[in-house]
Amino acid sequence: MVPQKNKYNLPVGYSLLQTTLKSTEFLNNPIQFISKSMVVFSGTYTASLGINRKLIITQDPGFIDYILKVNHRNYHKSELSTERAVQFFGNGLLFSNGDYWLKQRRLIQPAFHREKLQGLYNIIVSTIDEYVIKFPTGTNIDVYPLAHELSFHIIVRSLFDIKLSASIMEELSQVFTELQDFLIKDINQPLRKLFYPFTGSENAQLKKARRLREIFTAIINERKASTESYADLLDMLLKSKYEDTGEAMTTDQVIDEMLILIFAGHETTANTLSWLLYLLATHKEILQQLRTSLKDSTVFESLSNEYLKAVINETMRLYPAAWMTERVALEDDSFKQFSYPKNTIIIPFFFGLHNDKFFWKDAVKFQPERFINDPILAKSKHYFPFGAGPRMCIGNNFAIAEMCFFVFAFLKQFNIEATMQIPVMKPLITLRPDRVVLNIEKL
Ligand code: HEM
Repeated sequence: MVPQKNKYNLPVGYSLLQTTLKSTEFLNNPIQFISKSMVVFSGTYTASLGINRKLIITQDPGFIDYILKVNHRNYHKSELSTERAVQFFGNGLLFSNGDYWLKQRRLIQPAFHREKLQGLYNIIVSTIDEYVIKFPTGTNIDVYPLAHELSFHIIVRSLFDIKLSASIMEELSQVFTELQDFLIKDINQPLRKLFYPFTGSENAQLKKARRLREIFTAIINERKASTESYADLLDMLLKSKYEDTGEAMTTDQVIDEMLILIFAGHETTANTLSWLLYLLATHKEILQQLRTSLKDSTVFESLSNEYLKAVINETMRLYPAAWMTERVALEDDSFKQFSYPKNTIIIPFFFGLHNDKFFWKDAVKFQPERFINDPILAKSKHYFPFGAGPRMCIGNNFAIAEMCFFVFAFLKQFNIEATMQIPVMKPLITLRPDRVVLNIEKL
């Protein structure tokens, strides 16, 4: 059969040769590269992954909504982002697809409803209080590793509300960080794979991933044998029953989901909190207004503080921790004038959309009031900090609660000032700052 010419109408963009030639520029600074390309190609463009494999990157809110929500059934997470991740972090929610994903999502979703989460608030608040007391003060303090450690402790304690020994916590945190770093390099530098048989580095990491599972198996076994009652996420995971069979998850499935909740639930929040402190430190009048608005409230009341919510929303607009995501088309599809074959990868570029001058007045400015003056802005179609559609972040309410409680506790104790060091964006799996160096003073 003669192939049909121009059967598909892909957005204009880079040929395979151009994509290859520009790959170093892309890898050095993906956000800058994609943002520049968006200007050239008016918000949506094609790149080539191979002769027959295309990639469409878009910051068109309608297109993003179409992929994630309107026609979500035609889109899965692609093997590019999930295949390797599953080897290290298991087949939990973030990396699974299709019927299995849906079954797991239905099972786990109820634990993250706002009313259910209230049971975890005391754990979150006490973890923050213990941490904030030890927070260092002085000049030139990098708050990023501190926020990272705190959010790691919060999600781990919410999963199992037991005091783990400091050495186990340290080991968990270290292994997680190493595995994530390895995964990033593995995805970004495909040629590294050629050297694994000689360096043994892949096997060493897989061994660490097995060690994580051993630690979790021991915790689960201990829990199953315990007669005490718990109100943590592990308790919920163990007690949840599939609607159709009435059975609970196997230990392996529980571990997969625990790993995913830690994976998806700590760096994202740590990044957002670090950017937020940086933005407050560089915007004194907003910091002051936030302090005033929190003055007479309790920690739990901070959850309904509109100004604090606006500060968090505006931080996630400027620095969305999930700066992009990706899907693969299961069948041929089209959106507006574009059409593309099945197997095309689509990248919603949230960072670009959140910083798009067309949708956001004074887009580069940190202006939390915009979310107060326009109360539906946070739910608008050009704001996707937690994604959209059925795969929207399951932990969004958890994350907001954690961030509100932290900001409340932190501002009660400390004043912050900016330094000459300006953080640089590091768009890895999530958008993190290289460091956030501030002067911190006890009030
Ligand atoms: C500021 C903090 C956070 C941000 C910005 C964020 C962002 C996101 C985004 C954009 C997605 C959708 C990805 C996609 O469509 O491909 C997502 C998914 C997910 N998030 Fe979050 N997240 C945050 C915190 C959390 C927390 C605290 C947890 C757990 C307690 C969590 C658990 C998950 C899980 C399990 C998924 C996969 C859901 C699924 O595919 O069904 N996230 N997150």
